[in-house]
Amino acid sequence: MDFPEHFLWGAATASYQIEGGGLQEGRGECIWHRFSHTPGKVLNGDTGDVACDHLHRYREDVALMAELGLDAYRFSISWPRVLPAGTGATNAAGLDFYDRLVDALLEVNIRPFVTLYHWDLPQALQDQGGWENPASVQWFADYTGLMAQRLGDRVKDWITINEPWVIAFLGNFTGEHAPGKQDLRAAYQVAHHLLLAHAAAIPVIRAAVPDARAGITLNVNYIDAATDSEADQQAARRQDGYVARWFLDPLYRGQYPQDMVDWLGDTLSGIDLAAVSAATVPTDFLGINYYTRNTVAHADEGPFQTKMITHAGSLYTEMGWEVYPDGLRRLLIRLHEDYAPGAIYITENGAAFEDPPPANGVIEDPLRVAYLEAHFEAASQAIAAGVPLKGYFVWSLLDNFEWAYGYSKRFGIIYVDYETQRRVLKRSALYLQRVIRGEV
Ligand code: FCB
Repeated sequence: MDFPEHFLWGAATASYQIEGGGLQEGRGECIWHRFSHTPGKVLNGDTGDVACDHLHRYREDVALMAELGLDAYRFSISWPRVLPAGTGATNAAGLDFYDRLVDALLEVNIRPFVTLYHWDLPQALQDQGGWENPASVQWFADYTGLMAQRLGDRVKDWITINEPWVIAFLGNFTGEHAPGKQDLRAAYQVAHHLLLAHAAAIPVIRAAVPDARAGITLNVNYIDAATDSEADQQAARRQDGYVARWFLDPLYRGQYPQDMVDWLGDTLSGIDLAAVSAATVPTDFLGINYYTRNTVAHADEGPFQTKMITHAGSLYTEMGWEVYPDGLRRLLIRLHEDYAPGAIYITENGAAFEDPPPANGVIEDPLRVAYLEAHFEAASQAIAAGVPLKGYFVWSLLDNFEWAYGYSKRFGIIYVDYETQRRVLKRSALYLQRVIRGEV
């Protein structure tokens, strides 16, 4: 494996998944608080009320990051922690928390990458329609201004929105995520406003932080057609249009992909599609969250007439996601060829596997180690092929609240005992430490 000298190694988390602290210390309710407290929405009735108690244990967590030698840490701000009602009055305790976290990171030379929105919309804004409301664009721009002014003297790396596809479609079409709606048109309206909110936030960041580097993070799987048949090839193209091109084309070409606009027809009625040209606002990097490949076949049903095929010979993670490292190499090359972002970061990559109990102070997680090793290798091959990949964040620093799966899926390179909040390094954390030191 060969990585450039200034390649950035990090780990990622998100506010609702790790912070805990419930609604204490002035934090307003978010849509995931409401959703997880609604019976039947999250496995085992789990909530983010306590999570990893990072709110109170962040110093210990930063010390672990320093021990691993991380160059960078990607975390997100809880919007209702700093603006309990989403707009208007700020919460001093919330702002202080992020100040202290940033200072603790800088003290040990870890570069903070801030994600402004990783899914915990203030419930007060959801009560006004949330991202379906066109006013959400301005709500987000104002919140962005608050954070950029507050942290911008120390935080230079900003990600506006994490995975707009997941927010729009799992939140508003399948309903697996908060706010739990099942309305395809509403999901497209949300997706549209997320793109416009990103476009509005970038100049706000630049105005407050002239030397900022800013971008957005998308979830993009590698997509294969199940067979060479025309029907399966078209289905794969639709799947890619649905999840990837619907966001990439606006960001880099200023328009929605015409094949998908035609396919969707009336579903998009009332959405001012041309307004998405604003999304080409220049950014400094594209963040990519990569986990798996999707193998797609034609189906007669469903709005996209697609179905997913599994491969008997492949390894699947606890999420049911195929382990397919070469998809990362191919995806990066494709993004570079089709969209040519100035820089790319892998803002998430990792795997959920069941972990054994600790032995001799360490947890042996050979499948996760192998997963990371193979994906690092694929990334280094993409760099050799000319992709401007600048850094790599492992998902996740800690085991945490995995959304609708609650605490049942462990993605951490550090184990969390939720009874005691004790942290235990997994072998994968020690592997990452060796990679960062250049020992492998
Ligand atoms: C991504 C999310 C992240 C985590 C991983 C497993 O979609 O951004 O919060 O849940 O998946």
